[in-house]
Amino acid sequence: MRLDKLLAHKGFGSRKDVKALIKKKKVIINDQIVKDSSFQVNPEKDILKVNNEMVHYREYIYVMLNKPSGYVSATADDRDKTVIDLLPSSYQLFDPFPVGRLDKDTEGLLLITNDGKLGHHLTSPKKAVEKTYFAEVRGDISEEDIETFRNGVQLDDGYICKPAVLNVLRAASVSHVHVTITEGKFHQVKRMFEATGNKVVYLKRIQMGNLLLDNNLDTGDFRELSGPEVENLITLTQKKS
Ligand code: URA
Repeated sequence: MRLDKLLAHKGFGSRKDVKALIKKKKVIINDQIVKDSSFQVNPEKDILKVNNEMVHYREYIYVMLNKPSGYVSATADDRDKTVIDLLPSSYQLFDPFPVGRLDKDTEGLLLITNDGKLGHHLTSPKKAVEKTYFAEVRGDISEEDIETFRNGVQLDDGYICKPAVLNVLRAASVSHVHVTITEGKFHQVKRMFEATGNKVVYLKRIQMGNLLLDNNLDTGDFRELSGPEVENLITLTQKKS
């Protein structure tokens, strides 16, 4: 990674500020004074000091967001606010992206990272990572619907979904359910219920692979993943292929 980008991530200011630090001979890598702000730093190996103090750097960030309704799962959008807008600039500097998409009106667990490899693995159809949603659904959910989910719901465009698990938590005119799918087709959960004559009126993701939405996070809040949470996700995607 370029030295000026790395130092910007660490809060040392703009490229211009970093240039000034270099000019003053305040930036040292592996005991050598750095002369060029485009120097490629290896964050794993190089020992970096600024103003005689060690700079500890990490390459990746892993943030769990409890996504609120009204935000799109994108890094930029002309019309709408994005999930990235919910993060402070100290995280935005890492160029993070949301792993997979939740609809604008869907809430819940969204992983935001700049680890492209993990993001790719978690969303790859080959890895078939399970995603569990809590949904409020209008209409009668029958045993037959549960069976249809288990066998593969046929969507409006003819696509037959992979087997899904539907658990009814509370049967009522608006039922509460958990549904687990291993794919990420456009509006998939909503369309699966539409196919069985029901309507999703509220949707929230609560789990992705072995990562659970933290109950302590209010809607719109976020926190960094713990070390074990990151490790578990990486291990999960390495196992499944
Ligand atoms: N399925 C949907 O219909 N919407 C989402 O946001 C996620 C899964």
